[in-house]
Amino acid sequence: MLVTIPDVLTPDEVAKIRGVLEGTQWIDGRATAGDQAAKVKNNLQVPIDSPAGQELGQIVLRALAGNAKFMTAALPLRVLPPMFNRYDTGMTFGAHVDGSIRSIPGSGQRMRTDVSSTLFLTPPEDYDGGELVVHDTYGTHAVKLPAGHMVVYPATSMHSVTPVTRGSRWASFFWTQSMIKDDWRRHMLYDLDMSIMSVRSRLPDDDPAVVGLSAHYHNLIRHWSET
Ligand code: NI
Repeated sequence: MLVTIPDVLTPDEVAKIRGVLEGTQWIDGRATAGDQAAKVKNNLQVPIDSPAGQELGQIVLRALAGNAKFMTAALPLRVLPPMFNRYDTGMTFGAHVDGSIRSIPGSGQRMRTDVSSTLFLTPPEDYDGGELVVHDTYGTHAVKLPAGHMVVYPATSMHSVTPVTRGSRWASFFWTQSMIKDDWRRHMLYDLDMSIMSVRSRLPDDDPAVVGLSAHYHNLIRHWSET
């Protein structure tokens, strides 16, 4: 399941992040890649421990905390500090699956990566290529979104970033450990929540159908969640 979330960041937040990124240091993106991914990865990243990266990550985390669609799509237990990358002309990231376990910087605590997110920071008209291509059971999806918009997809998916042929593509990316580990269960809960919202737009909140479906949604989460 691939979910796009519009307007995660305001235009002002995008401008602020881009302004800081313009003056920051970038390093080879292979620094955080596993062995297979490193062989197909060619991009630049802000170092995880840099003050600029940490400050910008906080802006993204604050925005996520207030985003209802991210909450229902990812059902987050914990979110790794967001990172920032760029693909200049000629850069690309070949097919790979993201590493399954990552250490939380500073704490050394490990977490499982269930959900991958890419938050676009460059307007699509400013670059060519640079599509995020996600392969899932329903086929291949090419994603390129306006600045401030985000895509969320299962970290189990094979994916790639096509070569940038003009301009430079900047993004924030991060992983979430979900309370619901299983992609299919998470997908079903998302669909159920969307249906409940649709029913609630037509029926009063004390209608027995609304009450019953909401109870079912919460009891499924209680039954399936791991915390
Ligand atoms: Ni990846």
